[in-house]
Amino acid sequence: MSDGSRERILAAFASYLDKHLGIHFESDKYEEIFLVLKRNIPDKDESAAIDYMQKVVGSLGNNNKFLPELANWFSINETYFFRHGCGFEELQEHLLPELIEKRRSEKTLRIWSSGCSIGCEPLSLVILIQEKFPEIHDWNLDILATDIDEENLKKARKGIFREWAFRNINERYKSKYFTQIGEKEYQIDREITDRVSFFYLNLIDESYPLLENGTNALDIILCNNTLIYFSQESIKSVIDKFSRCLLPEGYLIVTASEASYINHPHLNAHGSGCQIFTKEGAQKKAERPPPLQQSPMVAIPVTQTRDYFALFDRGEYELCLGLQEEERELTQEEQILLIRSLANLGKLKEAKSVCKNYLQVDDLSPLLHFLLASIHQELDEVDEAIVEFKRAIFLSPDFIMAHFSLAFIFYTQKNPQKAQIHQKAVLEELKKYEPEDFVPKSDCIKAGH
Ligand SMILES: C[S@@+](CC[C@H](N)C(=O)[O-])C[C@H]1O[C@@H](n2cnc3c(N)ncnc32)[C@H](O)[C@@H]1O
Repeated sequence: MSDGSRERILAAFASYLDKHLGIHFESDKYEEIFLVLKRNIPDKDESAAIDYMQKVVGSLGNNNKFLPELANWFSINETYFFRHGCGFEELQEHLLPELIEKRRSEKTLRIWSSGCSIGCEPLSLVILIQEKFPEIHDWNLDILATDIDEENLKKARKGIFREWAFRNINERYKSKYFTQIGEKEYQIDREITDRVSFFYLNLIDESYPLLENGTNALDIILCNNTLIYFSQESIKSVIDKFSRCLLPEGYLIVTASEASYINHPHLNAHGSGCQIFTKEGAQKKAERPPPLQQSPMVAIPVTQTRDYFALFDRGEYELCLGLQEEERELTQEEQILLIRSLANLGKLKEAKSVCKNYLQVDDLSPLLHFLLASIHQELDEVDEAIVEFKRAIFLSPDFIMAHFSLAFIFYTQKNPQKAQIHQKAVLEELKKYEPEDFVPKSDCIKAGH
């Protein structure tokens, strides 16, 4: 193969990694791609690596199938409990005490560890809360932990760690929460892992903020040691989505080196290391004049309608509540937008009541039942959630996301028989789609995943 073709295939493959995984290689680092591939493909030589790259970039429309192994080969999984520079001190000293004070009446706290690797970060957080803030033990505490690498997630759920993960943990925590099960292996208490929801999420995708996976109305997002591998453009898009996931005055925590890449109008850096960003408060946001739908070619009518969908996409959820004042019947898309806006602002009870009102008018809408079920689920009203997911399925038997959610609930309830019924339905329905197709009514989840 000529040098030119070799460079071309490398460039195309690097662009694939950037687009689908967020992992960015500058052209002077392309040789590292070879090193990773050679380590992982069976023949371990250069021509096999080139064949593999050609297969990936050449399999147009169906190249999603390579993502799991590529995520596994190319991601850097380094992590350990109470990792330095990941914000644990700030969480303990300032952020958690402040948030606990604010949330005392609702008793909810929602935290997301994105790029969690094998789980040390979210599990450290649960230990920290258990140790330092026992008063919130019975709160509705949602700790989400996501990663792109399924192998990492499996390890996280299993909860077995090697000595290397304990290099910065207080010895007392180690002996209290871990049991030695092998020469150098330790099992963390189930009670700790059970407090975390581990699931797949690719930060490059548009699958957040989303009520259905709980990435909405968050108090804290941790994204440590993950953005450093991303291009500027991907970082910008991820940060913009994070900003929409956070509640006003919520926090984004990144390492000091990643903080320097962040420049977002709604996120204010503070702290000397600049690793904590606070989302601006609701009041400040509301001060900005609401943008109006405009076309440069058409004279602006006196009564303009706001483009609520564009406002929603920009995370202007407060402004979307203007839908409640519209003196007309809302379309179902608008109703759903209003309910999602309330949920994204953390106003779950209000979202539930609005959703129920719309269902009184149209009880045959599978989407509204599904949304109501997702709200119940977020409020920890699991029995009600099951009823509503079942209604959505009754009205629309091929509703993949409703089957998926029920399978998830039944698995967490340790009821594998029921879970498998819905899991089977998901797999059957998915056969109708190409891997690159979006799952219907999911907005952003690809069938291939
Ligand atoms: C170095 S680890 C960081 C783990 C932990 N946050 C910490 O600081 O200890 C980076 C993690 O980001 C994950 N990751 C990389 N690209 C990702 C993407 N596009 N979406 C989600 N996770 C990703 C990797 O799989 C890896 O587990």
